[in-house]
Amino acid sequence: MDIQTKLSYFQIDESVKTTLRDARPFLLEVLPDVLKSFYDFVTTHPESREKFQGKKIDRLIAVQSSHWGKLFSGDFDEEYLQTSLAIGRVHEKIGITPYLYIGGYNFVQKRLTSLVIQRFGKKGEQCAQILNAINASILLDMELALTSYADASNNQSANDFANDLLDDNISLSIAVNEVSVGNASMMKSLDDISLQIQSVAGAVQQLTAGVSSIRP
Ligand code: HEM
Repeated sequence: MDIQTKLSYFQIDESVKTTLRDARPFLLEVLPDVLKSFYDFVTTHPESREKFQGKKIDRLIAVQSSHWGKLFSGDFDEEYLQTSLAIGRVHEKIGITPYLYIGGYNFVQKRLTSLVIQRFGKKGEQCAQILNAINASILLDMELALTSYADASNNQSANDFANDLLDDNISLSIAVNEVSVGNASMMKSLDDISLQIQSVAGAVQQLTAGVSSIRP
């Protein structure tokens, strides 16, 4: 599905994009603290901490920060789409389950919501617009990540299915082979039996001939 169709369904139109662009300086200003507390949370929570063993957190903060920056630029273009799908694939590959992933978005979304209310709370309508724009873009981003999870695991299922078929085919070939070996030895036995019958018949014939030659 193309990005325009998704934007339409998530109701991310020009006014939402403009809201995001206007709020972007503020969002970029608070992002470092939000991400710092995000990594403090996920690297210490018992559900997620083992995923970060041996990872360079400063690098993760930098790459994640650039992703949020792109998201809040309101440019939901092909580059953004491909990056989001690729990020989803990275997480799927290293075993970040949707449960861990969505819980992570929940953390960031909660923080941003509180900060936006602190800053824009007195401007009711503007505050609501910013929150709606952030929520829609976070949900779209999450959807893209999870779609790439599903694609990756469908590919895995397709691979498993193809492997199962291959295994079945190999088993079938082995079985057919065994049957034909069995058939061959059965044919050989039948051949042997027929030879034996022929030689018995020959002996009987000779015997009969012998008997008639000694008859007076
Ligand atoms: C909240 C939304 C999240 C976003 C936007 C996000 C974004 C990113 C990005 C951009 C990368 C770098 C990918 C790359 O190297 O190409 C990354 C890597 C990583 N993320 Fe996330 N992430 C999120 C949530 C999470 C959560 C909840 C966890 C764990 C519970 C997690 C664990 C990791 C790990 C372990 C890596 C390192 C992958 C590696 O280099 O092997 N992420 N993330």
